[in-house]
Amino acid sequence: MLFEDQKMYHWQNLKMSRLFIKFLTRLLSSNIFAKLLFGVDCGRSTSDYQIGFSTILMKKALRKYVKNNDKVLDIGTGACAIHGIWLRKNMNANVTATEIDDKCAKSARIVAKHNKSDIRILKSDLFKNVKGNFDWAVFNPPFRDMEDNNGYKIVERFLKESPRKTRMMIVVNVFYVNQKKIEEIIKENNYRMIDVVAKFLNPSKVYVVEKAL
Ligand SMILES: C[S@@+](CC[C@H](N)C(=O)[O-])C[C@H]1O[C@@H](n2cnc3c(N)ncnc32)[C@H](O)[C@@H]1O
Repeated sequence: MLFEDQKMYHWQNLKMSRLFIKFLTRLLSSNIFAKLLFGVDCGRSTSDYQIGFSTILMKKALRKYVKNNDKVLDIGTGACAIHGIWLRKNMNANVTATEIDDKCAKSARIVAKHNKSDIRILKSDLFKNVKGNFDWAVFNPPFRDMEDNNGYKIVERFLKESPRKTRMMIVVNVFYVNQKKIEEIIKENNYRMIDVVAKFLNPSKVYVVEKAL
């Protein structure tokens, strides 16, 4: 096969895989799957929510690292506050969640109330309206594709602006995000990798990091 043909074949494969992932994400983003995977009833959500591979993999990392009564900050909680509610119910964590988007924040409050979950939900750009320290800050940053510079910028801000001593989790889908770039950003911002959580057949990775001394 010529180099150009190989390139075309690779590109088509990648495009098909992305389409397949989009299709699965749409399927997963239903109330049935939210209930099945997280035990959260998203039926009252007033804004769109997405349960992607990253959302699912984050649960594995949260289960592995968050301890009873830990203070957790769920940044960009989304319209269903899915990780925040799950953490409160399953790990008895003390949860604060933030959202930059008004509609998502409003919807997240409705869903939390409907699920009888006493988590705090703040309208905030990352840590801006948040006070105090946390054991963990977790983030599933928005990325449109590999070249989405806003995605990398927000990951960088997340690391730079975090309260001191807070350990962090960042989850990214390797189909949309350049892993190497994320690892570089982590290193350049003087963070140490505690773990990289992955799961068979899930194209996401959770980077568990803390500030290097
Ligand atoms: C990929 S979604 C993740 C939703 C949910 N946490 C999950 O894991 O499924 C990213 C969320 O981050 C929110 N977001 C984007 N930029 C933000 C910022 N600067 N501060 C707080 N939230 C932000 C978006 O509105 C969106 O709801």
